[in-house]
Amino acid sequence: MSTEPFRNVRLLPQTNQLLGLYTIIRDKNTTRPNFIFYADRIIRLLVEEGLNYLPVEPTVVETDTNENFEGCSFLGKICGVSIVRAGESMEQGLRDCCRSVRIGKILIQRDEETAQPKLFFEKLPSDIANRYVFLLDPMLATGGSAIMATDVLIKRGVKPERIFFLNLICSKEGVDRYHAAFPDVTIVTGAIDQGLDENRYLRPGLGDFGDRYYCL
Ligand code: PRP
Ligand code: URA
Ligand code: MG
Repeated sequence: MSTEPFRNVRLLPQTNQLLGLYTIIRDKNTTRPNFIFYADRIIRLLVEEGLNYLPVEPTVVETDTNENFEGCSFLGKICGVSIVRAGESMEQGLRDCCRSVRIGKILIQRDEETAQPKLFFEKLPSDIANRYVFLLDPMLATGGSAIMATDVLIKRGVKPERIFFLNLICSKEGVDRYHAAFPDVTIVTGAIDQGLDENRYLRPGLGDFGDRYYCL
């Protein structure tokens, strides 16, 4: 499922079902309850896809018919890290798949005038350097916020190849900028948009994800 010419971008299969979900959440007339419901469905798909990249080891179990089944089990510890506020919307989807997963938070806000990100605080699991990290933020526009958050993770000792950035919509320029900084981080996304408007919002995008999920 690789997307040329982007290295380390895993685009969800562009099925009619996925396109239908994006059609609902991009529609400016969609109500907040519907926005939440359908965004959550996409988030679940992103989490399930992200889990595919974790290492596994062969595992044999005996079934109720006394036969062996040759399967596998996950190796390694994981955690989620959400970029507050919009990234918090993705925490439940991760919890639904990974019971009692540890979740850290990085509060970064984009300046509404300049679109420059500002870091306010970070609270991360103390052993994060030993974990695979699902970095959660639905929007990757200029890439500034994701770059700042990933910098925090790397300074805390997380290996770039152990970071999986789960994202609903990204821009080509955001991905280019992000991967120029972190070529070994994998981005798992459901949509790559055309570009950015004069306010540095994704085009066609969906507007302000955090406002639509939490406020409007
Ligand atoms: C949004 C979004 C990303 C960032 C993307 O957050 O959730 O974090 O902007 O833009 P960028 O790629 O240009 O940095 P925002 O700062 O608006 O905060 P919010 O989560 O409170 O909406
Ligand atoms: N943040 C959003 O919520 N949407 C965008 O299009 C860009 C940044
Ligand atoms: Mg916002």
